[in-house]
Amino acid sequence: MNQLINCSGDTLRIKAPAKINLHLEILGMRSDGFHELAMVMQSIDLSDFIEIKGISTSELIISSNHSGLSLGDDNLIMKAARLIRTSSGRTDLGASIHLIKNIPIGAGLAGGSTDAAATLVGLNKLWKLNYSLQDLESMSAQLGSDVPFCISGGTQLCFGRGENLEKVDGASARDVMAIVLVKDPLVEVSTPWAYATYKKVNSSKYINDEGDFHVRRQLLRNSNWLKPLNVLSPPPLRNDLQEVVAPITPAVKNSLKFLSSLSGAVSLAMSGSGPSCFAIFPSLDAATSALENKKAELKKYGLDGWCCTFNMKGADCV
Ligand code: C5P
Repeated sequence: MNQLINCSGDTLRIKAPAKINLHLEILGMRSDGFHELAMVMQSIDLSDFIEIKGISTSELIISSNHSGLSLGDDNLIMKAARLIRTSSGRTDLGASIHLIKNIPIGAGLAGGSTDAAATLVGLNKLWKLNYSLQDLESMSAQLGSDVPFCISGGTQLCFGRGENLEKVDGASARDVMAIVLVKDPLVEVSTPWAYATYKKVNSSKYINDEGDFHVRRQLLRNSNWLKPLNVLSPPPLRNDLQEVVAPITPAVKNSLKFLSSLSGAVSLAMSGSGPSCFAIFPSLDAATSALENKKAELKKYGLDGWCCTFNMKGADCV
């Protein structure tokens, strides 16, 4: 059984929620080679957990319940631990970090990014470094475009590469909304490949002027995602990467077909660069009974399925 100790104890347990993209709009190219984006990101209540313990040496030890995961220098948890330790100048500090993996890998759900965010939040507390959330967000951008969002999570507008964040107030019906999420367990989509494929097809439509970017950001700031939601008719979902990934990825086509057969779904889309896809429901009960009624079809398509609500926080102690 997992040890459950809160953030004032010797072992910290940090919840690391996945995210979905309610709106992923590609505006153009940036001078650093990344795409300029305008997004609404939403944390969901499907989470990994990170358990962190102080140790008396300066080692950083990582373990996981997931045997298929590399735990070496390329692991984002290790990169995050090294980053915060180097930034603090306290190279004498060590920790043992255990990852409990529940979020599917290579799914477009920011699983690796949220683990990195939870590592920063946890080590900041364990080592009493007193970085603010803004400090952690700024430092985390070098780990990946989605990591800054995952620190505070909830609902946020994300601009730039994804690291320029504007928190959306909690006062709306978002906390009751739920999703059915599906993923083919045998398929992963590479994010660089998805963006490169989109660029090949769409680069002639790219805008590159800061003034034009500003106009598109303003449009998103004024969109209905920032207003109190009608759960039966939320604003339309948008994911520009879906246009290029879905037609050539049977797992995505099947996932969208499966989701469109669920009764009571109000809208559906792919998340991030895929292949996971989700349908929105006005409540967790509605999502759960819709999935329950189609268990046989889910199996026929070879998909894994989850029901969860939107989550109003990012990486946090439990
Ligand atoms: O930042 P992250 O590691 O998640 O990005 C993975 C890859 O996705 C980048 O190397 C790039 O190819 C693509 N990407 C992009 N524009 C973004 C974010 C990611 O082109 N804003």
